[in-house]
Amino acid sequence: MKYAEITGWGSYVPPLLMTNDDMSKIVDTSDEWIFSRSGIKQRHYAHVSVGKMAWLACDRALAAAGVDPEDIDLIILGSTTPEEICPNTASYIKNELGAKKAAAFDLNSACTSWFYGVNVATDMIKAGSIKKALVVGSERISLAMDWQKRESCFLFGDGAGAVVLEASDKKVGLLSSHMGCVPDSRECLHLPSWGMSPLHWTGDIFISLNFEGQEIFKSAVRGMSDSISHVLEQEGLTAEDIDLFIPHQANMRIIQTLAKRLNFPMAKVVVRIDEYANTSAASIPLALCDAIADGTVKPGMTILTATFGAGLTCGAGIIKWGERVTAKTISESEIPEYDGSVFDLMADSFAHYGVDAQHLLTKNP
Ligand SMILES: CC(C)(COP(=O)(O)OP(=O)(O)OC[C@H]1O[C@@H](n2cnc3c(N)ncnc32)[C@H](O)[C@@H]1OP(=O)(O)O)[C@@H](O)C(=O)NCCC(=O)NCCS
Repeated sequence: MKYAEITGWGSYVPPLLMTNDDMSKIVDTSDEWIFSRSGIKQRHYAHVSVGKMAWLACDRALAAAGVDPEDIDLIILGSTTPEEICPNTASYIKNELGAKKAAAFDLNSACTSWFYGVNVATDMIKAGSIKKALVVGSERISLAMDWQKRESCFLFGDGAGAVVLEASDKKVGLLSSHMGCVPDSRECLHLPSWGMSPLHWTGDIFISLNFEGQEIFKSAVRGMSDSISHVLEQEGLTAEDIDLFIPHQANMRIIQTLAKRLNFPMAKVVVRIDEYANTSAASIPLALCDAIADGTVKPGMTILTATFGAGLTCGAGIIKWGERVTAKTISESEIPEYDGSVFDLMADSFAHYGVDAQHLLTKNP
């Protein structure tokens, strides 16, 4: 029996910050309100594409694994915000990396996309059809923010996180998993003009997020709890057997509610929502990379993960970590920084939604 070990990890976080105080210059809100309702303090906004961020995260993950890009069999990009649908963005990443023999596809199940991708790649490795895969979650969700909706525009941020999966004889990697989709909850989180439907319209396109926060909250907790029960039972484990919990980072109160239901101490939960907000498909791999970097992930740990996203898709998994928590090599690749402020970066988006931000710009419009 083969398993799929996580042998490499890498992330890219764009340097430009939109703090809660910055946000309050754009919409009627405050740091106090945002932090107390969500646990978010700031979010990073990207000046480059989903593909570019994903490329750097993958490059870093390959270096950490000590794997040559030419040995990769499959690249899966999990994303809700790829810049193009055809061709897919995974093929761009493949070409940039020089992963000559890799098959490449995009997978969209919203915030669960990276987790769904890890499931697909793990099962293909277990089945013997591939040996090495890259799974990356990358999002530039800042481009989809509707600045007329203060109830949702503060929730999201950009970034990318990737892992390398390799066939192993050791019982490591994603051991048990459950993927689900909560019935009748498609409408509570919806980007109606994101996709082909605008082609039937005339006039300006507004990417407007339809959002029922409390409905999402309840469905998310229900969906993730069910998936967690499922995987714990599958592996014959209880919450006490879990060393670390890395949940999707959508709202601090959702994470706390889940931990309470599981009777799981918050000291064992990785929380990065304060730093990144909700980075959708990138949120779990970003949190994982940070937890490895700061020494939280230790050899042989049993890690629980749980996630949800529009659909409402959901899932949970038990990951057995291997022996190595240090990178084999470090990538020296970088992305040049943006020359301007976060308000300059977002100027067109603000203007599109009728927000007057001229006085905040440092560059000439
Ligand atoms: C969005 C969320 C933080 C809102 O928290 P909430 O406690 O449900 O807040 P409500 O929507 O009930 O709004 C409460 C009040 O704050 C106001 N409000 C909404 N957004 C605000 C903002 N940014 N700043 C200040 N006030 C705001 C509302 O207008 C409402 O005012 P009212 O009581 O006078 O009507 C919460 O519902 C949530 O996180 N849901 C899940 C979202 C999510 O995870 N999405 C991603 C899925 S992958």
